[in-house]
Amino acid sequence: MNLTLEKQLCLKFENIFKNLGFDEKYAFVKPSDRPDLSDFQCNGALALSKILKQNPRAIGEKIAEQLQKDTDVESVSVDGPGFINIKLKNAFIAENMDAMAKDERLNCALTQTPKTVVMDFGGPNVAKALHVGHLRSAVIGESIRRILCFAGHKVISDVHFGDWGTPMGMILAQIIFEDGNLSKVETYDIEAISAIYKRANIRCKEDEKAAETARLMTAQLQNGNEEYIKAWKHLRAVSVSAVKQNYDELNANFDLWLGESDAHKMCGTIVEMAQKQGISEVDDGATIIRLPQTNKPMPPVILVKSDGGFGYQLTDIATIKMRVDDLKADEIIYVVDKRQSLHFEQVFEVAQMLGLAPKTELKHIGFGTVNGRDGKPFKTRDGGVMNLKDLIELSKDKVRASMPEAGEVEGYNAKEIEELVSQIAIGAIKFQDLKNPAQSGYVFELDDFAKFDGKTGPYIQYAIARINSILRKAAANKLLEGRVIISSEDERNLALKLASFESNVLRAAALKEPSIIADYAYTLAQLFSTFYNTCPIMSTEDKTTAQSRLKLARLVRDVLKTALKLLGIEAPEAMLKSKD
Ligand code: ARG
Repeated sequence: MNLTLEKQLCLKFENIFKNLGFDEKYAFVKPSDRPDLSDFQCNGALALSKILKQNPRAIGEKIAEQLQKDTDVESVSVDGPGFINIKLKNAFIAENMDAMAKDERLNCALTQTPKTVVMDFGGPNVAKALHVGHLRSAVIGESIRRILCFAGHKVISDVHFGDWGTPMGMILAQIIFEDGNLSKVETYDIEAISAIYKRANIRCKEDEKAAETARLMTAQLQNGNEEYIKAWKHLRAVSVSAVKQNYDELNANFDLWLGESDAHKMCGTIVEMAQKQGISEVDDGATIIRLPQTNKPMPPVILVKSDGGFGYQLTDIATIKMRVDDLKADEIIYVVDKRQSLHFEQVFEVAQMLGLAPKTELKHIGFGTVNGRDGKPFKTRDGGVMNLKDLIELSKDKVRASMPEAGEVEGYNAKEIEELVSQIAIGAIKFQDLKNPAQSGYVFELDDFAKFDGKTGPYIQYAIARINSILRKAAANKLLEGRVIISSEDERNLALKLASFESNVLRAAALKEPSIIADYAYTLAQLFSTFYNTCPIMSTEDKTTAQSRLKLARLVRDVLKTALKLLGIEAPEAMLKSKD
């Protein structure tokens, strides 16, 4: 395993700081804010000046003087109040590329402190088809899962199926209302169950008595009524297999298919613990916990509803205990709509009050909504919520329209073209989502998201395919990779961007923010395009130059592929030309 260029540079600084008697913790460098002037900068002199009460420029000069002697360094300057700007020798950058090109992990180190991370994302509900609102949790969650795995953590993903709340009682009650009993339940498929749930929703809203019956039946189900449990098992199984198909298509992977119902056995224990510790009270027939009103007022947490049913909050609290006790989670991450922030603040607060997860970090990554042009959550033309399946179809239609049909291109049959359409369409949807910071919502751009230019998934897939084709040509012409030689500005810029891959991955892992990888991949693809315009490969006469550029191109391809992998997006070997 080689140290990245940035880490090597940091080491050089650490040594100098040590020799000069300065605290090494300020010896870090970062890519320059002024790439026109320098490659990297170190702002340590400014921090040191405050501690040492000395002029930052003078400290900077002392450091610069030492660094100047380093043969890997082209030039050093101290600018402004004391920024140290460094430009590296081309040979040093080139060596780094050679090392990176040899390394399977592209110079990305594994974490020194691997953790067991439980990731809770997806969060589908029984009887409800996945809709646009479920997209972000699956897409962002899966990308974070891959980033953390790549960094070397043990990640356990759990879909946390919504299979135990009031909707269950509503569906059962609706079936009995319509059929007289539950005997036909096992004949119902997912469409039928979803339709029943929709009708149940309407009826319960209009008729308080129906709602009351549904609540009662939920409580009876939770208390183990055998007939209800049997029917519920079918509803759950049918729903699980339907959402599994959706998640497979989105390439979202779950290690565990547990649900709210699996926490049921632990719910009673939690209620007992709260009672024993004297932190719960009975209010209007419900068992609740009042929270300390320290930072901001928080409503009480309802553990047991007045009808005896367990609520959403208790389920999540009980699940924390199971994830800590059974899965030994060091960290639990929830990738859930940010409109549920209060819910998680309450749940985490109670977990702390009960001492359920003293050494486990609990984190809610709240994401914004997918919006339409009007800035409100994305709707279909008739004003309904768009099904995920329909969204995927829509994206496929867009992509298909710009693709040749079977028979028009050699070597591709209809099935292979359809496979490609799917990879590009899903890539387009995912990238449009992941290029935005998770926190913010975004407008789903129906016109631009699947284009091959601009900041899109297909643009990056296309860049990879283009390099693949260069590599195939090189192989056919027996051109081999050679040592990297950097002699132009475009080669230099490309190499420096490649060299910063690890630090981008590390930042994405630390902040749990896939958009960092998406930004990086887009910039790298753009830089490659600039490089390839001025630095041809096959038509270059000088063999060593051609061999060096070939290696750089292959390295860009590998890094882009890895970046897409971290985003959960496929990289087709080749892309087909559009008809226009
Ligand atoms: N099923 C829930 C919903 O549709 C989301 C679940 C999120 N995860 C959790 N542990 N609460 O709102």
